Amino acid sequence: TGGAVTAVTSVTGATAAGALARRDTQQRVTERRDAQRRESLPVEPFHGAHQAGVATAPQAHAVFLGFDLLKGTRKEAVVRLLQLLTDDAARLTQGRPALADTEPELAANPARLTITFGFGPGLFAAAGVRSPVAELPAFSTDRLQERWSGGDLLVQVCADDTVTVAHAVRMIVKDTRSFARVRWTQRGFRSPNRRNLMGQIEGTVNATDLDRAVWIGDGPLRGGTTMVLRRIRMKLETWDAADRVAREFTIGRRLSDGAPLTGTAETDAADYARKNRLGFPVISEFAHIRRAHVADPALRLLRRPYNYDEGLSAEGESDSGLLFVSFQADVAAQFVPVQRMLAEGDLLNEWVTAIGSAVFAVPPGCAPGGWIGEGLLG
Ligand code: HEM
Repeated sequence: TGGAVTAVTSVTGATAAGALARRDTQQRVTERRDAQRRESLPVEPFHGAHQAGVATAPQAHAVFLGFDLLKGTRKEAVVRLLQLLTDDAARLTQGRPALADTEPELAANPARLTITFGFGPGLFAAAGVRSPVAELPAFSTDRLQERWSGGDLLVQVCADDTVTVAHAVRMIVKDTRSFARVRWTQRGFRSPNRRNLMGQIEGTVNATDLDRAVWIGDGPLRGGTTMVLRRIRMKLETWDAADRVAREFTIGRRLSDGAPLTGTAETDAADYARKNRLGFPVISEFAHIRRAHVADPALRLLRRPYNYDEGLSAEGESDSGLLFVSFQADVAAQFVPVQRMLAEGDLLNEWVTAIGSAVFAVPPGCAPGGWIGEGLLG
């Protein structure tokens, strides 16, 4: 019987070895297939000198999450939170599930997902580090509501697929729960035709010299930038009542093709000196583009806005507008003067009102194994 046992064992052993080898091959095939699948997926890189989601061509959908750190959260906890969220973002953006992902299948379609982090003044205060960003000054036209303003930590989640965005948001919120609570959620969308809900084409004149206008060149935020997020409500009912001439006069551009009133194509430079037969400027002194125009390319804003539409308010009015997002190296030198010019006399103010406002420092990107904010809080 001894011989029989040995024979059985060796047969079993051989079978087991064969099974192992087969499993090994299978795993390699699966891994290769996974790698190939990921290579063919629309993926935005996560690691690098800058965070993704700033210079990235805007995706169709966005959710902006504003968090407040729980009372008594200190630097060590903030660091742990950021390490956790960096890991989530590094995986999810590359089409891999987050650690302990409850729905790993939902990570398989990254759809150009980017997850971008911003730190509000409150996060620096909690960590005991001097804040590189300050709150914005008050503007006369603002009607700000607490529920859409401020926040210690911002997470901007953008992708071309709404389910991808929802899944990433869920993972981020889950991992943030022991450190912070959600202060606000703002949801936005964009169309490939770049039109906002007033029908205008947006994004014609934007920062292009990013190394000077957007990325910070020195100090702890080197390679990072700053972000201003404004929730701007549009009174679409009264806008609908304005005629086409008035609407085009308000912006200084044509609705049909976005060309300046002094030109024929969208990309034509606006001629602010041109006068009409009566001697008045063709582009009004109070037209939005004239008020917002900055000649120096180093001082331009990188605008990356999203539309929002939450249906109708209780009064039956449209609850829609623009989630205005701008990235700039220096808030005080770039955003504030433009916003001041607009507050002091932009025809558009008749129909738009800022009801939310927040400012964040956007740290530089990180290398594999690193975490977002390490140069600031590490
Ligand atoms: C240009 C709409 C708020 C800054 C434009 C253009 C449109 C537009 C249609 C022309 C196309 C383009 O170049 O993008 C709106 C609407 C707003 C809004 C509907 C609010 C709901 C703001 C705010 C700022 C701003 C809050 C900054 C504080 C600019 C700048 C330009 C611009 C810098 C380019 C001006 C130039 O030609 O040099 N906006 N905008 N906009 N807007 Fe706004």
